[in-house]
Amino acid sequence: MSETAPVPDLAPSPQLAADANGQPELFEEATADLEGFWARQARERLTWDTDFEQVLDWSEAPFAKWFVGGRLNVAHNCVDRHVEAGNGERVAIHFEGERGDTRTLTYADLQREVAKAANALTELGVQTGDRVAIYLPMIPEAIVTMLACARLGAPHSVVFGGFSADALKSRILDAQARVVVTADGQFRKGTSLPLKKAVDEAIDHMGADSPVDHVLVVRRTEGEVAWDDARDQWWHELVDRQPDTHEAQAHDSEHPLFILYTSGTTGKPKGILHTSGGYLTQVAYTNAIVHDLRPETDVYWCTADIGWVTGHSYLVYGPLANGATQVVYEGTPDSPHQGRWWEIVEKYKVSILYTAPTAVRACMKWGADIPARYDLSSIRILGSVGEPINPEAWRWYREHIGGGSAPIVDTWWQTETGAIMISPLPGVTTLEPGSAQRPVPGISAEILDDEGKPFTEPEKVGYLVLTKPWPSMLRGIWGDPDRYRETYWSRFGPEYYFAGDGAKYDADGNIWLLGRVDDVMNVSGHRLSTAEIESALVSHPAVAEAAVVGASDEMTGQAVCAFVILRGAAVPADGDTDAVVQELRAHVGKEIGPIAKPRSIMVVTELPKTRSGKIMRRLLRDLAEGREVGDATTLADSSVMQTIQQGMTG
Ligand code: WTA
Repeated sequence: MSETAPVPDLAPSPQLAADANGQPELFEEATADLEGFWARQARERLTWDTDFEQVLDWSEAPFAKWFVGGRLNVAHNCVDRHVEAGNGERVAIHFEGERGDTRTLTYADLQREVAKAANALTELGVQTGDRVAIYLPMIPEAIVTMLACARLGAPHSVVFGGFSADALKSRILDAQARVVVTADGQFRKGTSLPLKKAVDEAIDHMGADSPVDHVLVVRRTEGEVAWDDARDQWWHELVDRQPDTHEAQAHDSEHPLFILYTSGTTGKPKGILHTSGGYLTQVAYTNAIVHDLRPETDVYWCTADIGWVTGHSYLVYGPLANGATQVVYEGTPDSPHQGRWWEIVEKYKVSILYTAPTAVRACMKWGADIPARYDLSSIRILGSVGEPINPEAWRWYREHIGGGSAPIVDTWWQTETGAIMISPLPGVTTLEPGSAQRPVPGISAEILDDEGKPFTEPEKVGYLVLTKPWPSMLRGIWGDPDRYRETYWSRFGPEYYFAGDGAKYDADGNIWLLGRVDDVMNVSGHRLSTAEIESALVSHPAVAEAAVVGASDEMTGQAVCAFVILRGAAVPADGDTDAVVQELRAHVGKEIGPIAKPRSIMVVTELPKTRSGKIMRRLLRDLAEGREVGDATTLADSSVMQTIQQGMTG
């Protein structure tokens, strides 16, 4: 532990230390009896129809079962029980539309909406176990649909509204979704964009393979839509006429709750599977102890989109299980002006704000005078997620958004972990800007060296692993048990979950996350795989070969940089590659989505490869980041880097 005295400013205030939900005793309790600790969390935070008999069954590791024999309904836990406890009039959602339209849903309203949606899905033939794809903007219907699926035990697969028809198609096919819930369009930065059109395209392209029986369409933008009478139904026609009560059945603790696709090291996204009891326990627990949520008094705002895991765990399931009052905002931080977020904080008196470092850095660039125009004094806790937050952004966030005193919880976790794993506790931890610090009580992490040996020396770089199963862990990759074992449980043997992140300790024992060590990039906190973008590039007829790297970027953390070799016929005679580069950027946008569009595409005549044919991304990263190229001696042809540098255009 530290020899240096804590900086008073970074230690919790005595008030917060005394009042916080997360207290130091939790660490002792979890260390003394881990399963007993999680059993208490599960029983105290959730309402079970049938109590569980066994806390953890790890006999088929790495496939875990938590709270075995227990039965519960996740939607009942997130909605109905709050109404039954007399909190029906509490606001669940303050919805703020992109154009300034608003809606308020109390827990009683939410209960009625979820019941109607569950009845509507039932009318469409959705049964327990059926998969439902959700492709919606950030509107209350998105949350209502997720909860309606949870209520029926029909696992949802939310696909980010920024993904293309092709990305949607592969996700619908992989999960074999029978129903897709979408909207006519979505509002973005003052304009409206079509959404259902992508669903139509995805289904058309699947042809006879399409598993989709029904498309349920929310009217949002009133944009033109094509219509298939046999397949499509309007939400306002089908859902609105349903009874507003629905009897929830309890499901097994291990019943699948959702599949969420995330990028891995191959071109095919992984369908990460989460189940019910363990997931809900840990998201509720961490939302309470890390965000220090107090449902009676806080106004909570997580800015994530429901298309990402943060939206699942800390916009839908965690805060609603805890009975929070929260803000849900449809738009971007700069629309119609760069003070939009802070206007919303002032308007709803937001007290807990959870966002991503990229957003903080964008606000930093726009200038501190913008938030200074608003009253942000309601804020008492700030959170960060998705990528390392650099100390400079951390300090700006605290100073200009947190009034110089709000604790920042830098939370490390992943789609696969389901819930926060490493983070300060605001009432316990003396903060260290830039570090996620320590595993939360109940979680065990270590850093291993190349040989797989744990070490604790400061400043030595190694690999982050998790050493004990945890309730919200993924239960596998949908339809691919071998890939699950191989990806997470083989690198350092079956007792270590390999997270794919580099990490180190500092002299105080804090954990610093150093970014991905695999071929996964993190752009604005969104995971993208190099292989996925490479395969999008080579699917274009002009491209013979492609290599993609994540280069560091001041604003977005990492940026997509591509190197392509053009096919002979596509090489412009005059050497001007601008047109083809623009076309390729647009092509990647169409294949995956605008977030995947490369920041730069360089046209080259060769790629650096080892003798075994593996692309040496490290060297390309040097080029993309404008550094001197590192050791190239393992290249099959060591002159390649020179050739590339000389002939680089784009
Ligand atoms: C990175 C997002 C540093 C990390 C919840 C991880 C972070 C990947 C942090 C998961 C953090 C997330 N500090 N890095 N606080 N939070 N990451 O699945 O590389 O979209 O492996 O989940 O984001 O991204 P995912």
